[in-house]
Amino acid sequence: MNRRQFLKLGAVTGGTVALGGVWRMGGRAALAQSGAVPTVDRLVMTSVVDNIYDIFAKGGKLDTITVQRTPPPGGRPLLAEHGLAYHLESIRGAERREILLDFAYRMSTLVYNYAVLKVEPANADALIISHGHLDHYGALPDLTLVAQGKWKPGLTLYGGGEDTFCHRIVVNPAGVAVDQGQLDRTGLEARGLKVVLAKQPTVVGGHAFTSGQIPRTTDFERPPAAARLVAGPMDSACSPTHFGATRVEVKPGELVSDTFQGEHATAYHVKDRGLVVITSCGHAGVINSTRQVQKATGIQKVHAIVGGFHLAPAPDEIVAKTVAAFKEINPDYIIPMHCTGMNTIIAVHREMPKKLVMPSTGTRVIFGA
Ligand SMILES: [Fe+2]
Repeated sequence: MNRRQFLKLGAVTGGTVALGGVWRMGGRAALAQSGAVPTVDRLVMTSVVDNIYDIFAKGGKLDTITVQRTPPPGGRPLLAEHGLAYHLESIRGAERREILLDFAYRMSTLVYNYAVLKVEPANADALIISHGHLDHYGALPDLTLVAQGKWKPGLTLYGGGEDTFCHRIVVNPAGVAVDQGQLDRTGLEARGLKVVLAKQPTVVGGHAFTSGQIPRTTDFERPPAAARLVAGPMDSACSPTHFGATRVEVKPGELVSDTFQGEHATAYHVKDRGLVVITSCGHAGVINSTRQVQKATGIQKVHAIVGGFHLAPAPDEIVAKTVAAFKEINPDYIIPMHCTGMNTIIAVHREMPKKLVMPSTGTRVIFGA
């Protein structure tokens, strides 16, 4: 290994060290200590865009949630694609909030499904982007263009760190680099969005909260080996130092391993039910993410774990360890979406059939009273 290779690897290792302070803060029940854990009476979570649209997916009332499906509107199906977008509507007393989390891959998919599902983006009280991959932010720049001037004043987009706005690449197993693009923070701000990097657990819209940056506490969850970040100039927000390195010889334009330092989860505390944790793409690990939300809030009861768990490419051993950890956490429901993979869905069905809710674009899950 030459010095450059060593230093590149050091950039990744250094990330763990440099992030320690952030993670420790996140682990001290940060929200709980400040008395800031919001509780909602009800959460209606709509998967606006997901990888599949199953017109035969079953809905109905389960023990403590209601699952509603959206049949093909006027014979025209909702659109599914490799991407994720949610509409989150929460109620506390007479107070109602709407949050848009992630923004699918294509604008045409997102706006079509928003219209069918009667989601008006201009009603949003806050926006959250989970991380900087194209299948989550893809439609956001165009959305901010068409909604410019219609958003509520001071509308804020919550990201989890600088790397949300850095250039990303995925190198597929054949060695081909797939460009994940770069979300343009300046462009979003120019169109009226306020951007906040929520590195610590942060309350959003008074009802939801983010996990903050997520400590890697399990020994089996690893960032995808295929993921890369393109290093920016040393004095830029995308310089390798922002990925955790303090001494590194990586030239701008070179690729470094992507540790998803700035990926965060979104969560709610639903009255008399517990935590609903939404991982989005779960590169930080679904178990790491859930445990971080438990630590940040001081609340142990998990009502539901939702999202892409990014286990589709994972070996059986990792799937088994994840499912074992699910059993330990013992959520009431598991809703595996997007990049979770059939391997994990089958394992959850085998081990915890009553907890499994199958995903489908257009699904509305009602948590709480
Ligand atoms: Fe994803």
